[in-house]
Amino acid sequence: MTKRWDESQNTTAFIYKHISRGGTLVRQLRQIRRALSLREHLISRKAQHHAPMLAATIDLDGLYEIRSRARKLSPSLMDLKYFHIEYWCAEALRRMLFFGIEKVRKKKILDIGTGFGLFPYACEYFAANVQAIDREGHALYDEITDFLGLRKTHHTVKRRQPLPDLGVRFNLITSYLIAFDRPENEEIWSVEDWRFFIDDVFDNQLNADGTLHLELNYIFPIRNWYSKEVKRLFVERGARIDFDRVTLSKR
Ligand SMILES: C[S@@+](CC[C@H](N)C(=O)[O-])C[C@H]1O[C@@H](n2cnc3c(N)ncnc32)[C@H](O)[C@@H]1O
Repeated sequence: MTKRWDESQNTTAFIYKHISRGGTLVRQLRQIRRALSLREHLISRKAQHHAPMLAATIDLDGLYEIRSRARKLSPSLMDLKYFHIEYWCAEALRRMLFFGIEKVRKKKILDIGTGFGLFPYACEYFAANVQAIDREGHALYDEITDFLGLRKTHHTVKRRQPLPDLGVRFNLITSYLIAFDRPENEEIWSVEDWRFFIDDVFDNQLNADGTLHLELNYIFPIRNWYSKEVKRLFVERGARIDFDRVTLSKR
């Protein structure tokens, strides 16, 4: 069994570890940086204000029934944080408002590594047509995304392998809190791996004025989200980079 599973067995130790990790310098600096942006502050307030409404559209009895079985469905206690449903609805709305409702409403969206799927769910609430991708073999995520009525395809993003053909071109492709560029073997994606990914997304997945937006996880071994070389590639491709956020538009 993996180390992650062993850690999860001791609930108290696990919760303590992750609460204390929440105060890392990186996270605090991010919050200070974010606090300086008035736009983000307003978006965050608006998202929090509307989160109870979005949460109220979810059948809580059904959700709690899944929660009662969640410990058996998921190998990691970390996944249970998503049952804090109003918090994650606010986060989903914050992500959506970051683009602006018009960029999402009635648009075609692909969310990579969707997890619980609350971001696609929020977008669908605003009449978007959303598809999601996630790895196979996570029973909790599968149950929740089915329960939320999302369209999800099992697929693992791998270096130099194209995304699956889902039969449509997307206006927006997103990916949040995931580290597909740092697979299990801890080998971080090179510039060429990223070039392949961006080319594939631009050539085969996005429509003519589509946007790719990434908010991936921090990469501790290089003490940043991306290496200097990868950042240079993003800039060459016209990216806007703001800490963990990388936005690349075809136009
Ligand atoms: C921490 S969760 C984040 C879920 C969601 N994006 C969010 O922000 O709440 C990471 C998700 O990415 C998925 N994932 C990780 N590596 C992946 C890969 N290489 N390809 C596809 N999905 C992946 C995991 O299965 C999980 O659902």
